[in-house]
Amino acid sequence: ADMARFIAALPKAEYHVHLEGTLEADMKFALAKRNGLDLPFADVAAMKASYIYHDLPSFLAIYYDGMKVLRTEQDFHDLAYAYLAKAASQNILYAEMFFDPQEHLKRGVPMAAVIGGITSARVAAAAQLGIGSQLILCFVRDLSAESAMAALEAALPFREHLVAVGLDSDEKDHPPIKFAAHFAKARAAGLKVTAHCDLNQKDILEHIRQAIVDIRVDRIDHGGNILESPELMAMAKARNLYFTVCPSFSGTVRGDKPPIDVVRGMLDAGLNVTINSDDPAYMGSEYLNEVLVKAQARSALTKAELVQLQRNAFNAGWMSETQRAACH
Ligand code: ADE
Ligand code: ZN
Repeated sequence: ADMARFIAALPKAEYHVHLEGTLEADMKFALAKRNGLDLPFADVAAMKASYIYHDLPSFLAIYYDGMKVLRTEQDFHDLAYAYLAKAASQNILYAEMFFDPQEHLKRGVPMAAVIGGITSARVAAAAQLGIGSQLILCFVRDLSAESAMAALEAALPFREHLVAVGLDSDEKDHPPIKFAAHFAKARAAGLKVTAHCDLNQKDILEHIRQAIVDIRVDRIDHGGNILESPELMAMAKARNLYFTVCPSFSGTVRGDKPPIDVVRGMLDAGLNVTINSDDPAYMGSEYLNEVLVKAQARSALTKAELVQLQRNAFNAGWMSETQRAACH
Protein backbone atom coordinates (compact mmCIF):
# COMPACT_ATOMS: atom_id res chain seq x y z
CA ALA A 1 0.00 0.00 0.00
CA ASP A 2 2.92 2.30 0.76
CA MET A 3 4.50 1.37 -2.60
CA ALA A 4 1.19 1.88 -4.41
CA ARG A 5 0.92 5.37 -2.89
CA PHE A 6 4.54 6.12 -3.79
CA ILE A 7 3.96 5.01 -7.40
CA ALA A 8 0.69 6.95 -7.72
CA ALA A 9 2.38 10.13 -6.48
CA LEU A 10 5.38 9.88 -8.83
CA PRO A 11 5.23 12.22 -11.83
CA LYS A 12 5.25 9.89 -14.81
CA ALA A 13 5.57 9.70 -18.59
CA GLU A 14 4.33 7.00 -20.96
CA TYR A 15 5.64 6.04 -24.41
CA HIS A 16 4.10 2.74 -25.31
CA VAL A 17 0.34 2.83 -25.35
CA HIS A 18 -1.79 1.96 -28.39
CA LEU A 19 -4.81 4.27 -28.45
CA GLU A 20 -6.93 1.50 -29.94
CA GLY A 21 -5.74 -0.65 -27.02
CA THR A 22 -7.31 1.83 -24.59
CA LEU A 23 -10.78 1.32 -26.09
CA GLU A 24 -12.70 0.11 -23.04
CA ALA A 25 -15.65 -2.26 -23.40
CA ASP A 26 -18.19 0.32 -22.20
CA MET A 27 -16.98 2.86 -24.78
CA LYS A 28 -17.15 0.15 -27.47
CA PHE A 29 -20.83 -0.31 -26.67
CA ALA A 30 -21.46 3.43 -26.64
CA LEU A 31 -19.74 3.95 -30.00
CA ALA A 32 -21.48 0.95 -31.56
CA LYS A 33 -24.81 2.44 -30.54
CA ARG A 34 -23.91 5.90 -31.80
CA ASN A 35 -22.80 4.44 -35.14
CA GLY A 36 -25.71 1.99 -35.52
CA LEU A 37 -23.48 -1.08 -35.37
CA ASP A 38 -24.31 -4.44 -33.84
CA LEU A 39 -21.89 -6.12 -31.47
CA PRO A 40 -21.95 -9.89 -30.94
CA PHE A 41 -22.00 -9.51 -27.13
CA ALA A 42 -24.92 -9.18 -24.73
CA ASP A 43 -23.15 -6.77 -22.40
CA VAL A 44 -19.84 -5.38 -21.16
CA ALA A 45 -19.20 -8.42 -18.97
CA ALA A 46 -19.67 -10.83 -21.91
CA MET A 47 -17.39 -8.71 -24.08
CA LYS A 48 -14.66 -8.62 -21.45
CA ALA A 49 -15.00 -12.36 -20.94
CA SER A 50 -14.10 -12.80 -24.63
CA TYR A 51 -10.70 -11.16 -24.14
CA ILE A 52 -8.82 -14.45 -23.97
CA TYR A 53 -5.53 -14.83 -25.79
CA HIS A 54 -2.28 -16.72 -25.45
CA ASP A 55 0.11 -15.14 -27.93
CA LEU A 56 0.54 -12.04 -30.08
CA PRO A 57 -1.66 -13.16 -33.05
CA SER A 58 -4.54 -14.27 -30.83
CA PHE A 59 -4.37 -10.95 -28.96
CA LEU A 60 -4.25 -8.96 -32.19
CA ALA A 61 -7.36 -10.68 -33.59
CA ILE A 62 -9.39 -9.41 -30.63
CA TYR A 63 -7.78 -5.98 -30.73
CA TYR A 64 -8.46 -5.41 -34.46
CA ASP A 65 -12.01 -6.69 -34.16
CA GLY A 66 -12.65 -4.33 -31.25
CA MET A 67 -11.53 -1.18 -33.05
CA LYS A 68 -14.14 -1.57 -35.82
CA VAL A 69 -16.57 0.64 -33.87
CA LEU A 70 -14.29 3.65 -34.46
CA ARG A 71 -15.84 5.50 -37.39
CA THR A 72 -16.01 9.26 -36.95
CA GLU A 73 -13.74 12.09 -35.96
CA GLN A 74 -15.75 12.37 -32.73
CA ASP A 75 -15.06 8.69 -31.99
CA PHE A 76 -11.31 9.25 -32.22
CA HIS A 77 -11.60 12.40 -30.12
CA ASP A 78 -13.53 10.55 -27.41
CA LEU A 79 -11.10 7.62 -27.42
CA ALA A 80 -8.00 9.81 -27.09
CA TYR A 81 -9.57 12.15 -24.55
CA ALA A 82 -10.63 9.23 -22.34
CA TYR A 83 -7.09 7.84 -22.32
CA LEU A 84 -5.54 11.24 -21.62
CA ALA A 85 -8.00 11.89 -18.78
CA LYS A 86 -7.17 8.50 -17.26
CA ALA A 87 -3.44 9.18 -17.69
CA ALA A 88 -3.71 12.64 -16.12
CA SER A 89 -5.60 11.11 -13.17
CA GLN A 90 -2.57 8.84 -12.64
CA ASN A 91 -0.14 11.76 -12.57
CA ILE A 92 1.19 11.08 -16.07
CA LEU A 93 2.45 14.47 -17.23
CA TYR A 94 3.29 13.48 -20.79
CA ALA A 95 2.40 10.62 -23.16
CA GLU A 96 3.35 9.55 -26.67
CA MET A 97 0.56 7.45 -28.12
CA PHE A 98 0.52 4.97 -31.01
CA PHE A 99 -2.27 4.60 -33.53
CA ASP A 100 -2.84 2.19 -36.43
CA PRO A 101 -4.28 4.25 -39.31
CA GLN A 102 -4.14 1.47 -41.93
CA GLU A 103 -6.86 -0.35 -40.04
CA HIS A 104 -9.10 2.72 -40.11
CA LEU A 105 -8.39 3.59 -43.75
CA LYS A 106 -9.41 0.01 -44.61
CA ARG A 107 -12.87 0.73 -43.17
CA GLY A 108 -13.13 3.93 -45.18
CA VAL A 109 -12.39 6.35 -42.33
CA PRO A 110 -10.42 9.29 -43.75
CA MET A 111 -6.99 10.07 -42.27
CA ALA A 112 -8.26 13.60 -41.55
CA ALA A 113 -10.94 12.20 -39.21
CA VAL A 114 -8.49 9.91 -37.41
CA ILE A 115 -5.74 12.47 -36.86
CA GLY A 116 -8.19 15.36 -36.48
CA GLY A 117 -10.13 13.67 -33.68
CA ILE A 118 -7.00 12.60 -31.80
CA THR A 119 -5.42 16.03 -32.22
CA SER A 120 -8.43 17.95 -30.91
CA ALA A 121 -8.44 15.63 -27.89
CA ARG A 122 -4.72 16.29 -27.29
CA VAL A 123 -5.30 20.04 -27.45
CA ALA A 124 -8.30 19.86 -25.10
CA ALA A 125 -6.48 17.57 -22.64
CA ALA A 126 -3.46 19.87 -22.54
CA ALA A 127 -5.68 22.89 -21.84
CA GLN A 128 -8.12 21.25 -19.42
CA LEU A 129 -5.98 18.63 -17.68
CA GLY A 130 -2.43 19.90 -18.15
CA ILE A 131 -1.21 16.67 -19.78
CA GLY A 132 1.18 16.96 -22.72
CA SER A 133 1.09 14.40 -25.52
CA GLN A 134 2.24 13.51 -28.99
CA LEU A 135 1.24 11.01 -31.63
CA ILE A 136 3.16 8.14 -33.29
CA LEU A 137 1.84 6.64 -36.53
CA CYS A 138 2.42 2.89 -36.58
CA PHE A 139 2.85 0.81 -39.70
CA VAL A 140 0.86 -2.41 -39.36
CA ARG A 141 3.71 -4.71 -40.29
CA ASP A 142 1.67 -7.74 -41.38
CA LEU A 143 -0.19 -5.67 -43.99
CA SER A 144 1.55 -4.92 -47.29
CA ALA A 145 4.39 -2.45 -47.71
CA GLU A 146 2.14 -0.62 -50.23
CA SER A 147 -0.60 -0.20 -47.65
CA ALA A 148 1.89 1.27 -45.17
CA MET A 149 3.25 3.65 -47.80
CA ALA A 150 -0.27 4.80 -48.68
CA ALA A 151 -0.93 5.52 -45.01
CA LEU A 152 2.30 7.47 -44.66
CA GLU A 153 1.50 9.54 -47.73
CA ALA A 154 -2.03 10.20 -46.47
CA ALA A 155 -0.55 11.32 -43.13
CA LEU A 156 2.16 13.65 -44.39
CA PRO A 157 -0.25 16.58 -44.90
CA PHE A 158 -0.82 16.26 -41.11
CA ARG A 159 2.89 16.03 -40.38
CA GLU A 160 2.73 18.79 -37.74
CA HIS A 161 0.46 16.59 -35.60
CA LEU A 162 2.86 13.64 -35.57
CA VAL A 163 6.15 13.18 -33.75
CA ALA A 164 7.27 9.77 -35.06
CA VAL A 165 6.47 6.62 -36.96
CA GLY A 166 6.53 3.16 -35.38
CA LEU A 167 6.05 -0.46 -36.35
CA ASP A 168 3.58 -2.80 -34.68
CA SER A 169 1.28 -5.81 -35.14
CA ASP A 170 2.28 -9.39 -35.96
CA GLU A 171 6.04 -9.55 -36.12
CA LYS A 172 6.52 -13.08 -37.47
CA ASP A 173 8.23 -12.88 -40.90
CA HIS A 174 7.73 -9.09 -41.02
CA PRO A 175 11.19 -7.70 -40.20
CA PRO A 176 11.95 -4.01 -39.79
CA ILE A 177 13.74 -3.80 -43.17
CA LYS A 178 10.43 -4.52 -44.92
CA PHE A 179 9.75 -0.85 -44.13
CA ALA A 180 13.20 0.65 -44.80
CA ALA A 181 11.84 3.01 -47.46
CA HIS A 182 8.97 4.11 -45.21
CA PHE A 183 11.27 4.89 -42.31
CA ALA A 184 13.60 6.83 -44.60
CA LYS A 185 10.73 8.87 -46.00
CA ALA A 186 9.38 9.59 -42.51
CA ARG A 187 12.79 10.65 -41.30
CA ALA A 188 13.21 12.94 -44.30
CA ALA A 189 9.97 14.61 -43.16
CA GLY A 190 11.53 15.22 -39.74
CA LEU A 191 9.81 12.41 -37.88
CA LYS A 192 11.49 10.20 -35.28
CA VAL A 193 11.53 6.44 -35.77
CA THR A 194 10.75 3.58 -33.41
CA ALA A 195 9.84 -0.09 -33.87
CA HIS A 196 8.34 -2.94 -31.91
CA CYS A 197 10.77 -5.79 -31.33
CA ASP A 198 8.25 -7.79 -29.39
CA LEU A 199 9.35 -10.33 -26.80
CA ASN A 200 10.27 -13.86 -27.90
CA GLN A 201 9.30 -13.47 -31.55
CA LYS A 202 10.85 -15.53 -34.34
CA ASP A 203 14.21 -14.07 -35.49
CA ILE A 204 13.98 -11.49 -32.72
CA LEU A 205 17.71 -10.79 -32.41
CA GLU A 206 17.93 -10.21 -36.17
CA HIS A 207 14.93 -7.85 -35.91
CA ILE A 208 16.64 -5.92 -33.10
CA ARG A 209 19.84 -5.79 -35.14
CA GLN A 210 17.98 -4.44 -38.18
CA ALA A 211 16.21 -1.85 -36.05
CA ILE A 212 19.47 -0.57 -34.56
CA VAL A 213 21.89 -0.98 -37.47
CA ASP A 214 19.86 -0.83 -40.70
CA ILE A 215 16.95 1.42 -39.71
CA ARG A 216 18.85 3.35 -37.02
CA VAL A 217 15.78 3.71 -34.83
CA ASP A 218 15.61 6.46 -32.21
CA ARG A 219 13.94 4.14 -29.68
CA ILE A 220 12.93 0.47 -29.36
CA ASP A 221 9.53 -0.79 -28.24
CA HIS A 222 9.83 -3.87 -26.00
CA GLY A 223 13.26 -5.20 -27.07
CA GLY A 224 13.84 -7.36 -23.98
CA ASN A 225 15.57 -10.13 -25.91
CA ILE A 226 18.54 -7.80 -26.38
CA LEU A 227 19.70 -9.27 -23.05
CA GLU A 228 20.73 -12.36 -25.06
CA SER A 229 23.25 -10.37 -27.14
CA PRO A 230 26.16 -8.53 -25.51
CA GLU A 231 27.03 -7.10 -28.92
CA LEU A 232 23.59 -5.55 -29.47
CA MET A 233 23.52 -4.29 -25.87
CA ALA A 234 26.82 -2.52 -26.44
CA MET A 235 25.42 -0.85 -29.55
CA ALA A 236 22.24 0.25 -27.76
CA LYS A 237 24.31 1.78 -24.96
CA ALA A 238 26.69 3.49 -27.36
CA ARG A 239 23.67 5.04 -29.08
CA ASN A 240 21.95 5.84 -25.75
CA LEU A 241 18.78 4.11 -26.98
CA TYR A 242 15.72 3.97 -24.75
CA PHE A 243 13.45 0.93 -24.50
CA THR A 244 9.71 1.03 -23.88
CA VAL A 245 9.04 -2.16 -21.95
CA CYS A 246 5.51 -3.36 -21.15
CA PRO A 247 5.87 -5.97 -18.43
CA SER A 248 2.13 -6.58 -18.00
CA PHE A 249 1.59 -7.17 -21.71
CA SER A 250 4.56 -9.48 -21.92
CA GLY A 251 3.38 -11.28 -18.82
CA THR A 252 -0.24 -11.66 -19.97
CA VAL A 253 0.13 -12.47 -23.61
CA ARG A 254 3.17 -14.66 -23.87
CA GLY A 255 2.61 -18.36 -23.41
CA ASP A 256 5.41 -19.62 -25.64
CA LYS A 257 8.48 -19.31 -23.43
CA PRO A 258 8.96 -19.09 -19.68
CA PRO A 259 8.68 -15.41 -18.84
CA ILE A 260 12.01 -13.74 -18.15
CA ASP A 261 12.24 -10.73 -15.86
CA VAL A 262 13.09 -8.24 -18.57
CA VAL A 263 12.77 -5.17 -16.36
CA ARG A 264 15.23 -6.49 -13.76
CA GLY A 265 17.57 -7.75 -16.46
CA MET A 266 17.63 -4.50 -18.40
CA LEU A 267 18.02 -2.33 -15.31
CA ASP A 268 20.93 -4.43 -14.06
CA ALA A 269 22.50 -4.38 -17.53
CA GLY A 270 22.49 -0.57 -17.45
CA LEU A 271 20.07 -0.17 -20.36
CA ASN A 272 17.70 2.80 -20.54
CA VAL A 273 14.44 1.07 -19.68
CA THR A 274 11.03 2.70 -19.29
CA ILE A 275 7.86 0.95 -18.12
CA ASN A 276 4.62 1.32 -20.05
CA SER A 277 1.11 -0.10 -20.29
CA ASP A 278 0.65 -1.10 -24.01
CA ASP A 279 -3.06 -2.10 -24.34
CA PRO A 280 -4.71 -1.45 -20.98
CA ALA A 281 -8.33 -2.04 -22.07
CA TYR A 282 -7.38 -5.60 -23.03
CA MET A 283 -5.25 -6.18 -19.95
CA GLY A 284 -7.86 -6.00 -17.21
CA SER A 285 -8.09 -2.20 -17.50
CA GLU A 286 -4.74 -1.87 -15.78
CA TYR A 287 -3.13 1.48 -16.63
CA LEU A 288 0.37 2.67 -15.82
CA ASN A 289 0.03 2.87 -12.02
CA GLU A 290 -1.30 -0.68 -11.83
CA VAL A 291 1.38 -1.90 -14.24
CA LEU A 292 4.08 -0.26 -12.10
CA VAL A 293 2.70 -1.76 -8.89
CA LYS A 294 2.91 -5.25 -10.42
CA ALA A 295 6.34 -4.59 -11.92
CA GLN A 296 7.61 -3.33 -8.57
CA ALA A 297 6.59 -6.57 -6.87
CA ARG A 298 7.72 -8.86 -9.68
CA SER A 299 11.12 -7.26 -10.22
CA ALA A 300 11.69 -6.16 -6.60
CA LEU A 301 12.10 -2.54 -7.67
CA THR A 302 13.34 -0.16 -4.99
CA LYS A 303 11.97 3.36 -4.64
CA ALA A 304 15.25 4.64 -6.07
CA GLU A 305 14.78 2.39 -9.11
CA LEU A 306 11.18 3.58 -9.55
CA VAL A 307 12.47 7.15 -9.55
CA GLN A 308 15.21 6.17 -12.02
CA LEU A 309 12.62 4.58 -14.33
CA GLN A 310 10.66 7.85 -14.42
CA ARG A 311 13.84 9.87 -14.91
CA ASN A 312 14.55 7.60 -17.91
CA ALA A 313 11.00 8.19 -19.08
CA PHE A 314 11.35 11.97 -19.11
CA ASN A 315 14.67 11.64 -20.94
CA ALA A 316 13.20 9.23 -23.50
CA GLY A 317 10.62 11.71 -24.74
CA TRP A 318 10.36 13.69 -27.94
CA MET A 319 8.48 16.57 -26.31
CA SER A 320 8.58 20.13 -27.56
CA GLU A 321 10.49 22.69 -25.48
CA THR A 322 7.18 23.92 -24.02
CA GLN A 323 6.13 20.40 -23.15
CA ARG A 324 9.50 19.64 -21.55
CA ALA A 325 9.30 22.79 -19.44
CA ALA A 326 5.83 21.73 -18.22
CA CYS A 327 7.30 18.41 -16.99
CA HIS A 328 9.47 20.12 -14.36
N1 ADE B 1 -0.61 -3.72 -31.35
C1 ADE B 1 -1.11 -3.35 -30.18
N2 ADE B 1 -0.31 -3.76 -29.19
C2 ADE B 1 0.74 -4.39 -29.76
C3 ADE B 1 1.91 -5.01 -29.27
N3 ADE B 1 2.23 -5.04 -27.99
N4 ADE B 1 2.74 -5.58 -30.15
C4 ADE B 1 2.47 -5.52 -31.45
N5 ADE B 1 1.41 -4.94 -31.96
C5 ADE B 1 0.54 -4.37 -31.12
ZN1 ZN C 1 2.84 -2.32 -28.34
